[in-house]
Amino acid sequence: MSAGTSLSSLQRIFISTTIDHLIAVPDEHADSVVVSDRIIDEITKILASKKGGTLFAVIFIDIDDYEQAYALLKSFKPSDLAYRIVAMDPENRHTLSNMGRLKYIHELRTTPIMDREFIFLVRKSFDAMVDEIAAAAERQSYQIRLMDAKHDQEDLISIGKSLSLEKDPDKLLRSILFLSKRITGADAGSIYLVEDATGGGTQLRFKYSHTFSKEIPMEEFVIPYDTNSIAGYVAITGTVLNIPDVYELSTEDPITFNSNFDRTQSYRSKSMLVVPMRNHIDEIIGVIQLINSKENLDSASVTGNEAFEVRLTTLEDFETKVVPFDHRYESLMEAVASQAAIAIENNRMIRQIENQFEEFVRASVTAIESRDVATSGHSFRVAEICTRLAHAVNQATDGPFKHVNFNENAVKELEYAALLHDFGKVYIDIAIFMKGKKLFPKEFENLILKMNYLYRSIELNYSLEEAQIAVRGADPALIEEARTRKEERERTLAAIKVIIEEVRRLNEPAVTVTDIERRICEIDETVRGFRCYDIDGNIVRVLTDDEKTNLGIPRGSLNESERREIESHVVHTYNFVSKIPWPPEFKRIPEIALKHHEKLDGSGYPNRLTAGDIPIQAKMMAIADIYDALTASDRPYKKALPAERALSILDDEAKHNKIDPELFRLFVEKRIYEQVGTGSVAAP
Ligand SMILES: [Fe+2]
Ligand SMILES: [Fe+2]
Repeated sequence: MSAGTSLSSLQRIFISTTIDHLIAVPDEHADSVVVSDRIIDEITKILASKKGGTLFAVIFIDIDDYEQAYALLKSFKPSDLAYRIVAMDPENRHTLSNMGRLKYIHELRTTPIMDREFIFLVRKSFDAMVDEIAAAAERQSYQIRLMDAKHDQEDLISIGKSLSLEKDPDKLLRSILFLSKRITGADAGSIYLVEDATGGGTQLRFKYSHTFSKEIPMEEFVIPYDTNSIAGYVAITGTVLNIPDVYELSTEDPITFNSNFDRTQSYRSKSMLVVPMRNHIDEIIGVIQLINSKENLDSASVTGNEAFEVRLTTLEDFETKVVPFDHRYESLMEAVASQAAIAIENNRMIRQIENQFEEFVRASVTAIESRDVATSGHSFRVAEICTRLAHAVNQATDGPFKHVNFNENAVKELEYAALLHDFGKVYIDIAIFMKGKKLFPKEFENLILKMNYLYRSIELNYSLEEAQIAVRGADPALIEEARTRKEERERTLAAIKVIIEEVRRLNEPAVTVTDIERRICEIDETVRGFRCYDIDGNIVRVLTDDEKTNLGIPRGSLNESERREIESHVVHTYNFVSKIPWPPEFKRIPEIALKHHEKLDGSGYPNRLTAGDIPIQAKMMAIADIYDALTASDRPYKKALPAERALSILDDEAKHNKIDPELFRLFVEKRIYEQVGTGSVAAP
């Protein structure tokens, strides 16, 4: 083929033929003339011999051969063959009725084509085809840009979504870097975060890094917050850097590349895109640095996603497969980095709120527990047991807990409920909790004082009577009367002493007396019979109704109203914790805390619920609560029970349908009771 004229870059061919009949074309009018009696064979041959590009053809054809030729021409790919058909019909063989079928004919000639006309026709056809191809290429480029923009937008939306969902800060950074690399087809990348330095000032922390083509161990380190490093320069100036080859930076450039990493890791950093991470108030909180884009920009099919997975192993790979980052990624990555910055800040804030909340809860519990030194630590231990029990439930692979799972939030919810379960005790008179005997110490002291007063007053009365007898004379009858009085006095005083001792014994919570009420009534009657007066002459009520009620407590040291008051702590707890604006994942805290004293058989309080109405968390808490109450030496008068004894009491409770037997089994089997206070409760 001879060299082209105005269409030199295009490979072209004029095929001037009919299937059976040839039309001669003068040489000077064309770069090449192929004369063949089989157009299709010829085209196929030419296509096979040429390397790529589109073959342009103006095909002159007899109208009778049109349909057969067109059917064959259609089988070529448009990218291989662009053609125009000029149909020759000198004998006017086509009719109006077959016009519809001739629609792919670009020119229909009924008269012979003259030389000049032929050249004009061929040139015109070529120009039209070239314009068409150029327009198609432009359309395709618009389409690619449109698709790129669509992908970018989708990427941004999905990044925004996935970043806002990630709660774990480390996973968040991993996600940010992974998505950034995938979008841009980068082989490696790092995230630097701006932070306060320990000794004051600011520093940049190399926080996370990943290289696709190479397993490189990651270690955090800090670099100065200055413009000497590329990351520092971007963090301070906020400039986006898109460097085609970092080794080609000149001394004129404001930045220098530190090749330490490349040397130690046998890597070749080449193209680099570094963007600042700006938060919602436009502060730069870090930098994303992407290295070595592998995106083949000439291939529409290899975009970031696929390019990301191209592995760079040999030096040649770095030379041939690494390209500069496409300019459109500068603004796209800025947007991604801003989303990342906001996600990081949100994450930090959530952590901060969670920490503050946790600290607040713990400080509140510590404050309540410090009211009563003896019980301090109870709520923390109950929370620890509950958390361990929840993990044990999660680990169960069979049995009733096979399908029960507490996720991280649910475990936290249980922990908070347990920490606060006795918060309502703050509303209750501490003296009731401290009450070790049936009467409060002051009440008991007062009662004994009254008894002593009674004793002395009776003693005095007798002494006065004896004195009066002595004054009346010394005849035998009077002497006898005095003796009788003396004996009576001794008996009475001895009886009072016995009563005082009995009252002391009755005040002990452990003392059980059969028919205690009747005994107290007898004492009351005896004491009333002594008729004791105060200095105004009023009868002194030695044993009041309250004292009688309290001394008559059949079991323990609390009377009915005190017991009810103590029990009301769960309702106070509920009312208090219900006022806390818990996030949705902790919404059951008030309910769990409210139900920690309910029993499976409906004998618990405050609502006498039965098994089906008590959430599993409250059942777990009941076990933890009882176990700790039994084993803690929380009162000077109360002995701490050894673990075996506490377990046997709990076992009894389980057998009597008070506590959940399956949870108790887990509590024993996993020896959870042994682990309390042994360290942090991390999920296994
Ligand atoms: Fe409680
Ligand atoms: Fe408790």
